[in-house]
Amino acid sequence: MKHYLQFSDFGADEYQYLFARTAVIKGKFKSYEKYHPLTDRTLAMIFEKASTRTRVSFEAGMGQLGGTVVNLTTSDSQLGRSESIEDTARVISRMTDIVMIRTFGQERLARFAEYSRVPVINGLTNEFHPCQILADLFTFIEHRGQGTSDALACLEGKVVAWVGDGNNMANTWLQAADLLGFTVHLSTPSGYEVDEKLAFDARQPRAGCYKIFKDPMQACRGADLVTTDVWTSMGYEAENEARRKAFADWCVDGEMMAVARPDALFMHCLPAHRGEEVAAEVIDGPQSVVWDEAENRMHVQKALMEYLLLGRVA
Ligand code: CP
Ligand code: NVA
Repeated sequence: MKHYLQFSDFGADEYQYLFARTAVIKGKFKSYEKYHPLTDRTLAMIFEKASTRTRVSFEAGMGQLGGTVVNLTTSDSQLGRSESIEDTARVISRMTDIVMIRTFGQERLARFAEYSRVPVINGLTNEFHPCQILADLFTFIEHRGQGTSDALACLEGKVVAWVGDGNNMANTWLQAADLLGFTVHLSTPSGYEVDEKLAFDARQPRAGCYKIFKDPMQACRGADLVTTDVWTSMGYEAENEARRKAFADWCVDGEMMAVARPDALFMHCLPAHRGEEVAAEVIDGPQSVVWDEAENRMHVQKALMEYLLLGRVA
């Protein structure tokens, strides 16, 4: 049994498989072809933080694969009345086939997985957001690749500029770059840097998989993809005011896009705040692929659930 708790849980060949499989599964959806490999399977979703995309993409995706979904939040379950995560895992995993959790510390997710009889997927923690990076990479490959038969070749040597907080998304980008042969240019305000030890654990990352820039313009120079995220992630709201001041120069605007490659794409995991981390002219402009990126959450997660439950089917 496999879990998907962080991006580094899978190897490059598994990502090659998942990107190709996502294209097939998305093709079936687009041509209204019924595909029900997960009939009689149940996905439990546990949300300890808010969500729009993760909730809808997992629920719609599981339904399209023929399965059903149970949705729990902290406030409407016994988790909110201090039932332990271990007991919750033991119980839920006897009744369902796969579990997706959005929570605070990665350690809480890991504890759930330890006591679960079924595969567990990280739907976002304070530290990582692997399903989002899976969708972002698939979106890049769709826009810039030559099909998915050799999806990894399309990523190799590319430059992704990360402008903003050294948060769960940034940590996950680092893991992906280390594994899949591209480089992340990181520019974060001082005091909000990524924690490389957290991203790479005890491993030595691949040389050149990331570079740090003080100036966000320098990070964007020559990038194939420019991406950012909210200044204040869920759970950090008390820091809102301090962050507004610290992040003022980390807004992806037309000038930053102008120094990236002319064919650079713009991505944002959403929700976005126009005028804060991104200018409206960028997110609503011609280089932005944020709506494809959001839709692709559903397609990649269908491939992921199929893989975790049935293994390689093609
Ligand atoms: N990008 C993302 O995970 O969105 P939600 O918070 O709406 O699920
Ligand atoms: N970094 C953001 C991502 C939201 C999808 C957060 O954790 O709130």
